[in-house]
Amino acid sequence: MAQRIGETARALALPLAKKAAGLVTRAIPIPRPTLLVGPGSSVRLAEAIAGFGHRRVFVVADPVLARLGLVDPFLASLEAGGCRHERFDEVTPDAPIPIVERGIEAFRAARCDAIVAFGGGSVMDAAKVIGLAAANRRDPRTLVGYFRAFAGPAPIYAVPTTAGTGSEVTVAAVISDPEAGRKLVIADTRIVPQIAALDPELMAGLPRAVTAATGMDALTHAIEAYISGWRTDESDRLAETAVRAIFQNLPIACRSGRDLVARERMALAATWAGMAFTRANVGNVHAIAHQLGGRYHTPHGLANAIVLPHVLRFCVAEAAPRLAALARALGLGKARDAESALARRFIAEVEALARGIGIPERLDALRASDIPALAEAACWEADTNYPVPRRMDEADCATILRKLLPEVSAKPPSSGRRRAARTSAAARKGNASTARGRSPRATD
Ligand SMILES: NC(=O)c1ccc[n+]([C@@H]2O[C@H](COP(=O)([O-])OP(=O)(O)OC[C@H]3O[C@@H](n4cnc5c(N)ncnc54)[C@H](O)[C@@H]3O)[C@@H](O)[C@H]2O)c1
Ligand SMILES: [Fe+2]
Repeated sequence: MAQRIGETARALALPLAKKAAGLVTRAIPIPRPTLLVGPGSSVRLAEAIAGFGHRRVFVVADPVLARLGLVDPFLASLEAGGCRHERFDEVTPDAPIPIVERGIEAFRAARCDAIVAFGGGSVMDAAKVIGLAAANRRDPRTLVGYFRAFAGPAPIYAVPTTAGTGSEVTVAAVISDPEAGRKLVIADTRIVPQIAALDPELMAGLPRAVTAATGMDALTHAIEAYISGWRTDESDRLAETAVRAIFQNLPIACRSGRDLVARERMALAATWAGMAFTRANVGNVHAIAHQLGGRYHTPHGLANAIVLPHVLRFCVAEAAPRLAALARALGLGKARDAESALARRFIAEVEALARGIGIPERLDALRASDIPALAEAACWEADTNYPVPRRMDEADCATILRKLLPEVSAKPPSSGRRRAARTSAAARKGNASTARGRSPRATD
C-alpha cells in the first residue's frame, strides 16, 4: 500500500518538477566547443594546444589506443611545439571509479593545467571527472548529479576515437561504480570541452561491432532528444540531421571501416546528436541501458541498440507525430500516410538498420531474476531525470526487459545446441556481440 502511495506521488509530482527543470534547461547557456573536423585535425589540435602556453598537459587515453599507437602523432606534435605532457593510459570501459581516482592522483602529482581526452566516451568521461574532482579536491562520488562542484576543471580538449557518445560536446560524464554495479552521471556545463577534433583517420580501425554499437548510441541520443519534452527548435534540427546522417553512413562505416567520408560523417552525426541531447536530454532507453551496463558491463551503445525499438514501440502513440516526422525526414512512406503508420515504419527502419549491422535482438547476459531490481532502478533514473513522452512504471519496464531475455527452448539439450549454433554463426560473422551478448573490445 505504502509503495503504491509512493508510486502515485512520484507519478503526480515528478512531471511538475520536470516541467520546471525543462524551463531552466531550455534556457541555460551551454558552451559549444570549437570543432576541428577532418583527417589530420587531431594533430592540428595538438599544434594549437602547444601554442596556448599551458605548463603541462595531462593526456588521458586507454590501453588499447596506447597499444595501437593512435595517440603517438598527437603527442609528437605536442612535443614538436615544446608542450610538456603527462600520459595516463589506464582508462577501461565505463570509466570505473578506482581508475578515475588513480587519474586524479596522477593529474595532481604531475601539476598539469590542461587535460586532453583522447579516446571513446569512457576516456572522455574519465578525463572530465578527473578535471572536475581535482579542481575541487573532492571524491568523484560526491559530484554525482547536477552542478555539484564549486570550481570548474582545467581546460579540457577532446579527441573522440569512437563516433557515438557525443561526450566531446556534452555537459555529462558517466562513470561506473563497480562495487555497486551502477553507472553514475555527473552533469555540469563547465565540463564541456573547449575544442574538439573530429579526426576520421583515428576511427578507421575501429572494429565493426564497436562501430555498430557506438553508432546506435548516437542514433539513440538523436531520437530520444527528438521525442523529449525539453526539445527546442535547434535540438530538433540537430537531431534530425544526425538521424539522416546515421542512416546513410553507419552501414557504410560498418562495412568499409576505412571509408573516411563515412567515418567523418558519423563523427559529425555523433557530435550533432550530442549537442541535441545535452539540451533536450535522453529518455527511457538510456534509463534501461545504464542498468544493463552497470550490472552486466554490456557496452553502452549495444545496450541502447537492443532496447531502442522496444521503448519506441512502448511510446508509439504518444510520440507518433515526432516519429512520423523522422520517417518523413528519411523519405519513408507517402505524404498522405497516417502519422501512426509512419511512426511504425520508422521503428521498423530502426530495427532493420540494427539487424543489418549485426546488433542482436536479445541480451545473453540478462537474467530473469534480475529484472525487478533493474526495472526499479531504471524507473527511478527515468522518473528523476528524463522528460519522456510516456512514463514507464516498473511493470512496463519489466515487460520490456523480459522481451530481451535470451531465448530458452523447452528442451534443455536442444537449447544448448541452438545457443551453440547461434554463437558459432555470430562468431563466423565476426559479431561477438551476438555470441556473448556483449560487444567485442577492440582486441577482438
Ligand atoms: N558523456 C556523455 O555525454 C555520454 C553519452 C553517452 C555515453 N557515455 C558513456 O561513454 C561510455 C562508452 O563510450 P564508447 O561507446 O565511446 O566506448 P569506449 O570508450 O568504452 O570504447 C569501447 C572500446 O573501443 C576501443 N576503442 C575506442 N576507440 C578506438 C579506435 N579508434 N580504434 C580501436 N579501438 C578503439 C576502446 O579501447 C574500448 O575497448 C559509457 O560509459 C557511456 O555510459 C557518455
Ligand atoms: Fe548514450
